[in-house]
Amino acid sequence: MSAVIRAASIEDLAALSQIEVEGFGAQPHSSMADELARSWARVLVVDVEARGVVAYVVAWRVADEVEIIQVATRNDARREGHARRLLDHAFEEARAQGFVRVLLEVRPSNVGAVTLYRAMGFTELSRRERYYDDGEDALVMALRLTRG
Ligand SMILES: CC(C)(COP(=O)(O)OP(=O)(O)OC[C@H]1O[C@@H](n2cnc3c(N)ncnc32)[C@H](O)[C@@H]1OP(=O)(O)O)[C@@H](O)C(=O)NCCC(=O)NCCS
Repeated sequence: MSAVIRAASIEDLAALSQIEVEGFGAQPHSSMADELARSWARVLVVDVEARGVVAYVVAWRVADEVEIIQVATRNDARREGHARRLLDHAFEEARAQGFVRVLLEVRPSNVGAVTLYRAMGFTELSRRERYYDDGEDALVMALRLTRG
């Protein structure tokens, strides 16, 4: 079964919203339609033949850095390597375009995501206390895209 990584379009909105709600609950971070309209946002999806969109990433590009706003994989497609391949693709693209660093915030309790980011080479930069609505801290993690 073939899979492609491509830029999201307005036709993907329903699929993106469903994955967002599955991944983050009933109150998503922001409207996907807004993300698609932002000139500084890059929204990429994994589109699998006969299954449709199974994962997405929203990344903001600010100055020479990329901030991962959201990454999520459909419940029935987790642990198949989609998030890792998608992030690898997004980082290769960003590196080729001259971006130097990727930043993200993650809940320390999100063991799956923290494990994924560490496996990809992210290191912990700092901790933002009581960052989330429920009082949980955020780990700020960073990955350098350039050597030296
Ligand atoms: C975190 C998330 C995006 C991972 O997506 P995924 O497509 O299942 O991840 P991958 O299959 O690419 O995983 C790659 C590696 O990450 C690690 N990993 C991923 N999910 C994990 C989990 N639940 N527990 C432990 N390790 C995990 C593993 O090392 C995995 O490799 P392996 O399967 O060979 O052991 C997915 O679980 C998700 O959508 N969660 C809800 C939304 C979310 O929390 N997003 C991140 C915060 S923005």
